[in-house]
Amino acid sequence: MYYPEEVVEEVRMKNDIVDVISGYVHLQKKGANHFGLCPFHNEKSPSFSVSGSKQMFHCFGCGTGGNVFTFLMEYENCSFVEAVRLLADRAGVSLPEADDSEEARKREGRRARLLQVSREAAKYFYCCLRSGQGETGLRYLQGRRLSEETMKRFGLGFAPISGSQLVQYLHSRGYEDGLIREAGLAGFDERYGLHDKFWNRVMFPIQDINHRVIGFGGRVMGEARPKYLNSPETLIFDKGRNLYGLNFARTAKKGNIILCEGYMDVIAMHQAGFTQAVASLGTAFTEGQASLLKRYTEEVLLAYDSDEAGTRAGLRAIGILKGAGISCKVINMEPYKDPDEFISHLGTEAFQKRVEEAEGGFFFELRSMEREHDMRDPESKTAFYRRIAEKLCLFPEEIERENYLQAVAEKYGVSPKSLRELVAAQASRTGLVRPPTRPKSGIAEKNKRNTPEENKRRNQRLLFTWMTDEGGAYFPIIAKYISPEDFTDELYRQAAVRLFEKMKEGSFREADLVSMFSEGEEHREVAALLNERLEAVETIQEKEKALHDIILAVKKESWDYSCRKADQAEVMLRITEARKALEELSKTHISLKER
Ligand code: CTP
Ligand code: MN
Repeated sequence: MYYPEEVVEEVRMKNDIVDVISGYVHLQKKGANHFGLCPFHNEKSPSFSVSGSKQMFHCFGCGTGGNVFTFLMEYENCSFVEAVRLLADRAGVSLPEADDSEEARKREGRRARLLQVSREAAKYFYCCLRSGQGETGLRYLQGRRLSEETMKRFGLGFAPISGSQLVQYLHSRGYEDGLIREAGLAGFDERYGLHDKFWNRVMFPIQDINHRVIGFGGRVMGEARPKYLNSPETLIFDKGRNLYGLNFARTAKKGNIILCEGYMDVIAMHQAGFTQAVASLGTAFTEGQASLLKRYTEEVLLAYDSDEAGTRAGLRAIGILKGAGISCKVINMEPYKDPDEFISHLGTEAFQKRVEEAEGGFFFELRSMEREHDMRDPESKTAFYRRIAEKLCLFPEEIERENYLQAVAEKYGVSPKSLRELVAAQASRTGLVRPPTRPKSGIAEKNKRNTPEENKRRNQRLLFTWMTDEGGAYFPIIAKYISPEDFTDELYRQAAVRLFEKMKEGSFREADLVSMFSEGEEHREVAALLNERLEAVETIQEKEKALHDIILAVKKESWDYSCRKADQAEVMLRITEARKALEELSKTHISLKER
């Protein structure tokens, strides 16, 4: 970390979170906490809560949370270090000289260096676009109807023709070969040495939600191949966990997010005022991206290409979005290929109309299924209805299933009764998907919606919340059975090490746990750790049972994990040991009274 921990902690303690957030959000006191409308997602009733005693905020709607630094990082789109500076200033704390020595740089870490070099490269490309050698690039982008303002907003640039101009420029700024290669900006071969990865292309810098450049996409200006060249994944560029345009879209407050396939589509939509548009990064849409979106919206509108590949990708995305609990509609782009082409031919208003007319994801799925069947052939037609019944069985709630059933019946002109019979027949074969039930202990159920990995993480979060709840009253009991190594998620484990240390010293503070990390993403994860909802268990017996179950679950997962990691010879031994210990633990009565 850049500033010493004590200083960071001093700054934090001198900036009361309720005071600070009140400057941005209208808060009202309700019980122990303050509530307001969440500034990070669109909502009508307040689910954004700020706790003065914990010095933390948390939104029950979008799941964002953290301490006072996190809030500023999110709201002002700044880095952790910048947030510390802002708040130090506010409270009149003088910070030690920022230290630029070689050693300090090392401390700041590889990630920070990668971010720096990427930013430097983006600046370089940006300048090239506006210099003589960028003329073809500029003309190309103008030809695609991008305004000066749009190009600026997205930081578009140009990589010149020559072989290693960028490398030389970065050298001159003190960046070393290893870093330049690691950032994916250059390749190496025996004959030419280190050479630029991108040349003669218009450049699209890819930014994370805090507007930091993490990678690039470069497009040829004609028909050559590959059309786009993208940065490889690096320490700072995770293609499955970022989305192009989300840095702007997340504060667009349009009540939905438009998901499309291409960089140019995002830019064209933003230019037309659809600032809620995002795209995946030259790879298929992932679950990680869906959970990222879930933080900002309840509804995603798909604006995928209208060709067959686009439709297939769209169907896949619908499945993933549904899995993340996001409702989903599809924008019809016909007769054009993608949003960019649509808007440049038919204009903003026509597109707005398509947005309003977007079709529910379910019916979109049915329509594409319909195309695979011949409706004039009774057999094929029946098969189509059977598949509809199969899909209807997947709705966990009866009301929803029935509503869709009626809508389908009307749309395809079949009687609801016979469709219902088909569903019943189907259900008797495969069963209906059941609504998720919540057991009292709060232990994550093995339901289909969550991956086993996510269930494990949830159990670990629950245990974390148990350890910190009630002012840490349960910690000593839990610490008898659990140690930081039992947390298998790397970030959770790091947080646990600190928590155990501080709890034992008697100086644990929630908000301090958050500041040990410097990335916004990590802040959110730690905040989630401390805010997992405990089920309403009332009596002491219920509590004891719940705690027992959760300890047992985490312990079991921890042993599974260490067995998987151990080498063959060790495994048998460990399994026997773990079995014995688990059996023992499952019989142990955990008492909450003996404290
Ligand atoms: N893509 C890629 N590599 C390619 C082709 C495409 O990474 N060789 C990714 C890019 O992220 C691109 C997206 O897939 O933005 C969609 O591709 P495509 O529809 O072919 O391009 P458009 O975005 O429509 O670009 P343009 O309008 O400039 O042709
Ligand atoms: Mn296009």
